[in-house]
Amino acid sequence: MEFVPLDFLGDLRRTHSCGELRASDAGKRAILMGWVHRRRDLGGLVFIHLRDREGVTQLVFNESIDAELHKKVELLGSEYVIAVEGVVKARSAETINPSIPTGEVEVAAERLWILNESRTPPFPMEESIDVNEESRLKYRYVDLRRPHMQRNIILRSKVSFAVRQTMVERGFLEIETPFMTRSTPEGARDYLVPSRVNPGTFYALPQSPQIFKQLLMISGFDKYFQIVRCFRDEDLRADRQPEFTQIDIEMSFPQPEQIFEMVEPLVVAATKAAGYDLAMPFPRLTYAQAMRSYGSDKPDLRIPPFHCVEDLFPGAGLTPEGLPLVAIRIPKVGPITRSQSDLLRDFGKEKGLRVFGDMKRLDKDFPDAMVAVRARIGAQEDDLLMLAGWGGGAEGKAPEGHLPEYTVLQACGQLRLHTAQKYNDKHKLLDPLNFQFLWVLDFPMFEWDAEENRWNAAHHPFTSVYDEDLEKLTTDPAHCRSKAYDLVLNGTELASGSIRIHRRDIQSKVFSALGFSEEEAKKRFGFLLEALEYGAPPHGGIALGLDRLVALLAGETSIREVIPFPKTAKGTDLMCDAPSEVPEKNLRDLGISLRKK
Ligand code: AMO
Repeated sequence: MEFVPLDFLGDLRRTHSCGELRASDAGKRAILMGWVHRRRDLGGLVFIHLRDREGVTQLVFNESIDAELHKKVELLGSEYVIAVEGVVKARSAETINPSIPTGEVEVAAERLWILNESRTPPFPMEESIDVNEESRLKYRYVDLRRPHMQRNIILRSKVSFAVRQTMVERGFLEIETPFMTRSTPEGARDYLVPSRVNPGTFYALPQSPQIFKQLLMISGFDKYFQIVRCFRDEDLRADRQPEFTQIDIEMSFPQPEQIFEMVEPLVVAATKAAGYDLAMPFPRLTYAQAMRSYGSDKPDLRIPPFHCVEDLFPGAGLTPEGLPLVAIRIPKVGPITRSQSDLLRDFGKEKGLRVFGDMKRLDKDFPDAMVAVRARIGAQEDDLLMLAGWGGGAEGKAPEGHLPEYTVLQACGQLRLHTAQKYNDKHKLLDPLNFQFLWVLDFPMFEWDAEENRWNAAHHPFTSVYDEDLEKLTTDPAHCRSKAYDLVLNGTELASGSIRIHRRDIQSKVFSALGFSEEEAKKRFGFLLEALEYGAPPHGGIALGLDRLVALLAGETSIREVIPFPKTAKGTDLMCDAPSEVPEKNLRDLGISLRKK
């Protein structure tokens, strides 16, 4: 690198940001500071685009006015940090740049301070240029300078602010809960922190503040919220990170409807921060309705629902007796080829379905039924239609799972989504900025864990069962409904919550239905069980995934795009090389010895 003499900032102060100057500022003196975004040399004239968080301003250096200054400008490279003093000039009509807000002016530079040099950046700042993710994450501090990352992180800050404002206006208190705690049951593995002072013991990082927020209700704080980091050691995907942020909420004496009425304005305010308006209230569907119309507990409402039509084909054998036959409609696909249709059939087969895609054949074999099918699903000219029943593979096996009907519906739901994603691109059916929120209510209390051969809590073990289903806890767990609800946006689960159990006797019953012995329950959650004995009020709440919310509002498909320093899909931080080994001495202090793999 050429030797570049650096200047001190001294007592220099900037007068304007790089996104601020307009034609009305012409004639003013300005001191701007920022990064050299782009440089254009036209012989005696050098144009520099100076960038900061607020935008870009054009600087002009004119050799004929100051040859000394010009020599200094020659030293500047991409991403050098500079300060410039000069006079704001209106640009002539033909040199106005309409693509940037400062495009009507430029600053005629008179003085230049080089505050820091920069190595050649690992990748260009232009967002039109694709950069591999590994490099982006290794040099995240450079990646974060790129306009779309700046936009996303600024949006995240605005959304957090809108959330705080809405919650505080509604009487909620922001209260912190511990990070060094003991295991919280949200279904993932814990990250453990060894205690040096108490060798052989470990704190767990919270998977959520669930138990603490319940304790805060027992303490009488009535309305709590927190924008809080949670930690889960689970397999990562585009919408999952090992540490992520929840907007965590709890209320005393609520009806589920009161929780929805509180969350909706919160989501509207967050969406407004992103520049979009939403209508309230959001639609509501029960879990059973969602499964029967979308084959999913997180329906994507941008695609029309499917319909069960087995009643229109009595005795036809298209699906086994007692199982659904589903009519799927994907709008505006137009005709597809035979091989495309075969691919859909194969996709369905993998899921255990028998897919009927040849409408001509069905129309011929079942003319009346097909007229009724089309009427029921509201089929239009250009729609792609399919019927799907249970195929069960070559052996015609019954579906696995405790509620076979749901297994079939779920498979149809996957076929519906897959078809829409594959064949409706050109009509933008799945436009990411078409925000379709909905509430899904009345989830089942338990889900069957086929591997472990037992029932698990579908939400978490502190969720209330419907009063009238209490008796079924042990006799018919499959049909126990819980007071749990999810907020869904465009097929993504954005938030989950429930009315909690506030009575010790009922909590014990649920633990026992989940197969915990009294002793085990006491060992893991004794403090909560005890707290329930000291006047616990009815309470309930919800947690929204902030990362997911911001990603969807920013039109991003991965939450990594809205987290400043995320982990890779393998849970590593490529920039600071974490997790890392620790010196033997640290392990010794903690009383830990590592087993050979
Ligand atoms: P749940 O486990 O459903 O509920 O989490 C609530 C919301 O948090 C988000 N989320 C995640 N986001 C990114 N990465 C992850 N690994 C991740 N895991 C969850 C999702 C999800 O909807 N204590 C309960 C809430 C309650 O009952 O009040 C809980 O944590 O958007």
